[in-house]
Amino acid sequence: MKSREQTFLMVKPDGVQRGLIGNIISRMEIKGLKPVAMKMIEISPDLAARHYEEHKGKPFYEGLIDFITSAPVVAMIWEGDDAVTIVRAIVGATDPRKSDPGTIRGDLAVFTGKNIVHASDSQESAKREIGLFFNEKELCTYSLPHENCLYE
Ligand code: RTP
Ligand code: MG
Repeated sequence: MKSREQTFLMVKPDGVQRGLIGNIISRMEIKGLKPVAMKMIEISPDLAARHYEEHKGKPFYEGLIDFITSAPVVAMIWEGDDAVTIVRAIVGATDPRKSDPGTIRGDLAVFTGKNIVHASDSQESAKREIGLFFNEKELCTYSLPHENCLYE
């Protein structure tokens, strides 16, 4: 068994408004990942700026901030071995025209600016983003009965 990793996953306003929250959560659950925190929030302009600081100055930045603050999002932490890599694979490539069928973006989206979910792209990003969106007290600690069937 490797050490468990946590990653940050967020259903963006388009995913919430299209009624896809359950679909996205289901994809994580059936893969074998464990949710340890989850909440619906309206992102403030300040939190949006901090979350997307790496993109400040890029042509799509202002539109991205407007979009992510336009309606509620669902912020989540998912846990499992190599959770960052596994969740990114389930999410698919940034541009839905290039993301594989079977991925969230490949199955459900058509446009880069409306690509349904955000997922941390590294363990460092995951730690930073989890810290931005959650207090330590909001994380739950529990075990899944079927973990022995998932991991060697
Ligand atoms: P995310 O951060 O949302 O999980 O997406 P990502 O890593 O796959 O892509 P990233 O490069 O971090 O871009 C963040 C989000 O900005 C929007 N975007 N628009 N119009 C454009 O060229 C463009 N490029 C990026 C997308 O919503 C992307 O998910
Ligand atoms: Mg990104």
